[in-house]
Parts: sequence; C-alpha cells; structure tokens
Amino acid sequence: MATVRSSPVAALTGTLRVPSDKSITHRALMLGALSEHAVGVDMPLDSADTAATANAVAACGADVDGLLGDHVVVHGRGVRGLRPHPAIDCANAGTLMRLFSGILVGQDGQSIILDGDASLRGRPMARIARPLRAMGASVFTAPGGTPPLVVSGGTPLRAMRHELTVASAQVKSAILLAGMYADGETWVVEPAPSRDHTERMLAASGVDVMRDGDAVGVRGPVARLDLPDMAVPADFSSAAFHLVAGALRADPDVRLQGVNLNPGRTGLLGVMRRMGADVTVRETAPVAGEPCGDLVVRRTDGLRATDVEAAEVPSMIDELPLVGLLAAFATGVTTVRGAQELRVKESDRVRTTVAALRGMGVDAQELEDGFSVMGQGRVPGGAMESAGDHRLAMLGVVAGLASDDGVSVGGFEACEVSYPTFARDVAAIGGVRA
Ligand code: S3P
Repeated sequence: MATVRSSPVAALTGTLRVPSDKSITHRALMLGALSEHAVGVDMPLDSADTAATANAVAACGADVDGLLGDHVVVHGRGVRGLRPHPAIDCANAGTLMRLFSGILVGQDGQSIILDGDASLRGRPMARIARPLRAMGASVFTAPGGTPPLVVSGGTPLRAMRHELTVASAQVKSAILLAGMYADGETWVVEPAPSRDHTERMLAASGVDVMRDGDAVGVRGPVARLDLPDMAVPADFSSAAFHLVAGALRADPDVRLQGVNLNPGRTGLLGVMRRMGADVTVRETAPVAGEPCGDLVVRRTDGLRATDVEAAEVPSMIDELPLVGLLAAFATGVTTVRGAQELRVKESDRVRTTVAALRGMGVDAQELEDGFSVMGQGRVPGGAMESAGDHRLAMLGVVAGLASDDGVSVGGFEACEVSYPTFARDVAAIGGVRA
C-alpha cells in the first residue's frame, strides 16, 4: 500500500483536461459491443475500472483494438450477438456488473458468473436481480444479495414498469438495457433524476427511448443498435477534485477543459456556489450528445456552511465526500442528509469520509443517512486511509494541499480505479508531487 504525503501549498494555478468520463467509457464499450459494426471511441478513460469493461466485452467476443486513453475500435457483434464468457471479473466496477447483467440476460448461451474484488463483493446486487427476475430473467446473487452473480441469458423477457425506491443510474440502466430484449415498453420511474448517459447513448444508437415526466422507457424488442463513432468528454467527478482544490487555493485561477456537464452530475456546482465559491461555467459544443463546458474556479476565503438535502443527492452522489471537505473549510455546521446510498459505494462513504476528516483534525459526525461537519475555516492536517476507495484517496490529497500541516494518505494507489494520472495533474497545477 502506497502512503503519500500531501503538503500545503500557497497557490494553485493552471489549465487541465482531466481524464475522460468513466460512466460514458463503460457505456461506450458495452453499447459498441452490441452494435452491428465496428465503433470508434476517441479518448476512452484508461483506468482499472474501464479496463475491466474492455476485458469483459472482449471476453464475450467483441474485440477491442487500440489503447484506452487514446482511441479504440470496438468490434460490435450485434444486439444479441455476444458469446458470453463463463466468468467475468468486474474488479471494482459496480457500473460494469450492473449494466452488463442487463445486457447478458438478452444473450443466448451458458450461465455466466460475474464476480469482483472485496469491495464489489460487499455491494448490493438484489436491486438489479429482483427487477430483472420480475422481467423473467434468470439472475441470482449470493445469499446476502451481493456478488457473485449468476446470470443465464436467453429466457423470454416481459416488458414492465418499475418504480425504483432509490435513484440509481446503474439500476435504471440495467433495466432499460434488459428492456431492449423484451416485447413492448419497459419503463423506469425514479424518485429523483439520476445521470441519463445510458438513455442518451441508446437514443443516439437508434433505440426508441421514451420520456414521460419522471419516467423513462425503451421500446423492445430492439433489432439492431448502431452506436455512432464518438469521443468521450472529461469526467466531472474527476474535475471536482481540482474544483475544490481551486476553491481553497487557486491564485489566480484553475481551469478545467471540456468537462461533461450532464445535469445528473453537476449538483456540486450549486452547493459550491451556495457556500460562496466562485465557479464559472463556459459552455462549449456537446460531445457524445452530452452538454460540455470549461470550468474556472477562483480561491474563496470565508466559505459558508450549508445543508444538502435528499433531492440534491443523486446529482452529486460521487462528490459528497468533497462537500465534507469544503464544509471543514467553511464556518458553521454543514449537514448532508438523505444520502444513505453513500453507505454502499466503493466503501461505506459515510464512515470513510467522516474517519478521513477526523484523521485530519476536523470535527465530523456520522449520521445514519449522511454526515455533519463543524467547520472551523481550516483543516489542521494529519493522516487518513483511502480504505481502497479511489475518491477517498484523492480527497486526502486535496485536503493536504489546503491544510495547515499536510495530510498523509494511506492506500493512495486506489486512484487507479478512475484517475491513474491524478498525482501528475495535481503537480501540473502546482500541488506538491503527491
Ligand atoms: C454511475 C452511477 C452512480 C455513481 C457511479 C457511476 C454510473 O451509481 O455513483 O460512480 O455510471 O451509472 P448509482 O447509480 O448506483 O448511484
């Protein structure tokens, strides 16, 4: 396990194009594999998570030529043309396990076991197994509702309407993808909108995607899918680390180029502004059917505490640990509620975020469905552990840059999952080499 020391800096400045979007790369590889033809994908994210997806589709017969991070060609096999491999290793990637299950239920062939690392093995999969079974699919979990999953494709699927109790793009996507193999309209209703990358990409591929208020549906059976050649924009969730670092230390500013601004992803911007941060968005042309733009952040002293409510949570689900850090630099009590989903991410992010903040000398408390932070306008510094969670590893480095005495980050290598070049990018804007 690598421990790095992140030391305080006086100023950060510069322009970055952070790595490409993880959610969109997973989907491009999977929908490319289902296309009738070869699909070119420019700048797919090169990380441990997306490598697992490239390996999974290749193992099922959709060869992937080229280099992640540069340009790949996915040799599509058609909507029903995958030859499922008996064992798929999803590594740390919940997106791969959940979305690919929705695809595998529509493929003929043998039973497939989908498994992952220790973190993924603790994550809830009944949330996809139950609705997929209700559609007629054969999907089984281990006794606690966790991986490994056993999926047997080729059973006839029924189109249905599903009411989700938790807003989850991964669950919504698994159901919509399975809906392509059902006869009729498959609808998903979410309690609050989550990211809609799957819907956008399916529509661009010629699938009939329907929207009705807060419901989204697909019309099956889908005979063919044609994902156009595409490029992947920069990942908002990776840009978020530099946005927060910039809000604390930019002089004069930090600029982030070509970032995906899907409205299901950008809730952090509203919270940062509410806390008094100076963030500017300059919209650019859409990429991959997603709104995109450049972000500029300037240092803001005197951040204010805020309350994050349940309705805001889905649009900033991966950024909530960063809200905890901003809250430490604000004055007053910040609370995050309605975020019980944080407990079933790559780590229990309520527990690991609070433990990390406390390790840096911050007064933070766990709540059943979130956390509260008593902001003192500063972070003294200390030591924290990533707990194998990529977003916690990067949070520790950002905290150290703006702390009084620096932060030691244990398990820094976890950032390979979504942002292998994080240390280089932090150094490029003037942070100490992590
Ligand atoms: C993702 C959706 C979110 C997010 C995850 C990626 C996706 O999970 O936390 O990092 O690519 O669809 P949920 O949809 O389960 O909340």
